[in-house]
Amino acid sequence: MGGGLAGAPLAAAVANAGGLGTLGIATPRQLRASIEQVRERAPGRAVAVNLLMPFVHRRHVAVCVECRVDAVVLAFGEKWGLVEHLRGAGAFVFVMVGTEKQARAAVAWGADGLIAQGRQAGGHLVGTMAALDFLPHALAVPGNRPVFLAGGIATAADTSAARDAGASGVIAGTRFLLTHEANASREYQRRILQADKTIETDLFGLSWPLRHRVIPNAATRRWCGNDGKAKAFPAALNAASRPLSVLGYFDAGALMRLQSPARPFFTPLAPVAGVPDAWLDSAALYAGETALRIGELTSASEAVKTLTPR
Ligand SMILES: Cc1cc2nc3c(=O)[nH]c(=O)nc-3n(C[C@H](O)[C@H](O)[C@H](O)COP(=O)(O)O)c2cc1C
Repeated sequence: MGGGLAGAPLAAAVANAGGLGTLGIATPRQLRASIEQVRERAPGRAVAVNLLMPFVHRRHVAVCVECRVDAVVLAFGEKWGLVEHLRGAGAFVFVMVGTEKQARAAVAWGADGLIAQGRQAGGHLVGTMAALDFLPHALAVPGNRPVFLAGGIATAADTSAARDAGASGVIAGTRFLLTHEANASREYQRRILQADKTIETDLFGLSWPLRHRVIPNAATRRWCGNDGKAKAFPAALNAASRPLSVLGYFDAGALMRLQSPARPFFTPLAPVAGVPDAWLDSAALYAGETALRIGELTSASEAVKTLTPR
């Protein structure tokens, strides 16, 4: 989970509980500091970094290589022969995919493993089918490389179902967003716990107009159609803003201040801890469909236990 939501406290807690703690994208300097913190807090455990490709700069890659991270999860594209480069530096490289075509491309890039994402996942979506429906398609592609399942994983029973269907492991986002260690706004977490639906939209698409799953708020009620799609004005603004992603990932939290449910200007930034509650009605409240099944905030170690079949 990028944009500051999944930092060292969460990744280290997951790692110490026996999972693969994964740091979300941040500025290269923050990323380096976070990797070092995970190493201090979870000695001897693997550390993973998610590279959100539309915003990745070569400096992010240099940090992963110099810090010798154990695993990298590439999502939403590839460039510069990155998979081979990272593997050459000793990282285990996962690529997240949502279609068979993407799975074949990932294998051609040299991926060590795939993450098969289902459409019920929170955040940005490559997934086009329900996770367990897509899994056999993904499993057919990579030979004996591991395939992990993402989307709809909130309990040990979900993990067992994924494993029984052939997944080597599971990836969870929303379950870990709802932990004390996630750096999310408390009001954001509270709204997810109370949500009675999620929607697939492209509204929060300034610089990155890719489909994403959120819970509704005033912005989606004002600017999305019944099918969740952004209305013409914000959709056109998002499409025109696509070239802005060349700026790469930078700390753009202040931009959220400019957002309002009344203006069709919506960045992909998520509300991190400490933002004013008033911003929640104009920000992307990413969450997967498991939000409807998760009843409380827990510690990350409790979440890992909840996900682990006995
Ligand atoms: C708040 C949030 C932020 C996310 N940010 C990212 C991200 O930065 N990079 C990425 O590859 N996936 C991101 N995802 C998607 C996850 O990788 C994963 O596919 C998804 O959370 C799995 O579905 P689940 O939410 O049902 O567990 C995010 C998901 C959530 C809920």
